Amino acid sequence: MFALDETLQNLPKSELYNELHRQARGLLDGERDPIANAANIAALLYWTLPDLNWAGFYFLRQPDELVLGPFHGKPACVRIPVGRGVCGTAVAEGKTQVVPDVHAFPGHIACDAASRSELVIPLVSDERTVGVLDLDSPIPNRFDADDAAGCSALMALFLSGSDFTRL
Ligand code: SME
Repeated sequence: MFALDETLQNLPKSELYNELHRQARGLLDGERDPIANAANIAALLYWTLPDLNWAGFYFLRQPDELVLGPFHGKPACVRIPVGRGVCGTAVAEGKTQVVPDVHAFPGHIACDAASRSELVIPLVSDERTVGVLDLDSPIPNRFDADDAAGCSALMALFLSGSDFTRL
């Protein structure tokens, strides 16, 4: 059984991400299935990071389209063309997107009307973009460079610990 410790939410950000990294290593240990690993990482992030209303993955199932993967939060849009919304932009540009105000992001796709800010990290495995991590918050300006760095380190662990030829 995995015991979530809700007091983690009170830690300073750098310590919180160190602890999340430690827990993620445990969760991924001995398992390389990308869907199973994505599901556990989405759950870990949703239940541990403060002020999220959505945490999950989209995967590139075709060269030009992201498809919904494991997540926690309200049901979400299933398909996002590359280049559209925050997720599609992250893939098109190959760059992390920290969006302080989703209403000011041209083409933002509103899956949950409560979302006000967003962090999207492109996932690259063996030089191939395989998808994105998407975090949404109901709080404006929820994400900063420390969140981007902490989540990128977690994604590096997820990518190296999963076999994307099985996606
Ligand atoms: N807001 C995202 C769509 C996905 S949902 O937030 C879960 C976007 O603009 O790409």
